Amino acid sequence: MAPLLDVHDLTIEFPQSRAGRAVSSSPVSSKPAPSKTAPVAAVRGLSFSIAAGEVLGLVGESGSGKSITSLALMGLLPPAASVSGDIVFQSGDEPPSRLTQLPPHKLRELRGSRIAMIFQEPMTALNPVMRVGEQIAEAVRAHHRVSKAEAWKRAVEGMRDVAISEPEQRAKSFPHQLSGGMRQRVMIAMAIVNRPQLLIADEPTTALDVTIQQQILDLLKDLRQKFGLAMLFISHDLAVVSHVADRVAVMYAGSLIELGTKADIFRSPAHPYTQGLLRAIPTLNTDRSKPLATIEGTVPSISSLPSGCRFEPRCSFRVPTCASDFPALVEISSGHWARCPVLNPPRTA
Ligand SMILES: Nc1ncnc2c1ncn2[C@@H]1O[C@H](COP(=O)(O)OP(=O)(O)OP(=O)(O)O)[C@@H](O)[C@H]1O
Ligand code: SF4
Ligand SMILES: [Mg+2]
Repeated sequence: MAPLLDVHDLTIEFPQSRAGRAVSSSPVSSKPAPSKTAPVAAVRGLSFSIAAGEVLGLVGESGSGKSITSLALMGLLPPAASVSGDIVFQSGDEPPSRLTQLPPHKLRELRGSRIAMIFQEPMTALNPVMRVGEQIAEAVRAHHRVSKAEAWKRAVEGMRDVAISEPEQRAKSFPHQLSGGMRQRVMIAMAIVNRPQLLIADEPTTALDVTIQQQILDLLKDLRQKFGLAMLFISHDLAVVSHVADRVAVMYAGSLIELGTKADIFRSPAHPYTQGLLRAIPTLNTDRSKPLATIEGTVPSISSLPSGCRFEPRCSFRVPTCASDFPALVEISSGHWARCPVLNPPRTA
């Protein structure tokens, strides 16, 4: 059966200023745009798929391209970005939709109904001067021809689905009257109220404290069971991803460096970067008197990427060819892919 979402060879480029900085396309900036040179790829050749009901975790350090990947799926990248590759969404027996080629009104139809998104900071996504129930009801009316009363009823049910107690009362609150965890629940209610098949969650728990974080992760797991929801769960934190994901994709500097089941990634990580991320997770056996292991160095800027393996400047396994040859992503065991020929040498027959 075709996957629910199939991303093939996705590349996202931004124009670059002469100073080497990627140019942001803020429509409100009054400053003249810097002169441009060749575009730089913030994401290059990214391929992955998500089956119906499956949760794929997308992990990587800040700047690795996680958010722009999710924005590309939703058709929400800034106009300056240029996108190539194929993004195919196919639900059940319906004909496939090629998201990069859909006209804007068709994409709007899918967004918020079949594919929904939640963000890290609900305060920036919610309207501060509108009651939360009305905001959820508006999401209903954007996709269904129903009366205001019916939309309000569905909004209250949506709040009940995300375990908000006394939803009839809470629906009348403004965002600032709710705690951070409760606001995130409202965002999730708004995302699932139209029963999407795919939920894209970009760092949905990062702004929350640890106890609330766990509650939101548990809620997402419950909703997945209840509604058969597939998810792209984005986080910089591999430990958080391990709570919800079936498979994990690891990105580094705009490219996929490892992809496998949760067991593949946690029990037999095949790329030095994934191994480093795992060493940085505290466990019950971690000696608390010593600082946690970290990966030396920082992610390179997209305008000055190494020409060979992008992880080479930070890698303790590097050999001379790593600096010149960009490694291919290779399937090292069924469904487990890694981009490091040094730790995963090609098998000879
Ligand atoms: N509007 C933009 N204009 C130019 N470059 C951009 C723009 N948005 C993102 N980029 C570039 O794309 C890269 C990836 O950004 P993205 O926001 O996807 O990172 P991320 O993995 O989500 O990081 P974080 O964990 O900090 O959220 C950034 O390093 C930035 O250089
Ligand atoms: S290809 Fe070389 S530099 Fe890159 S991760 Fe493997 S060993 Fe390290
Ligand atoms: Mg991000």
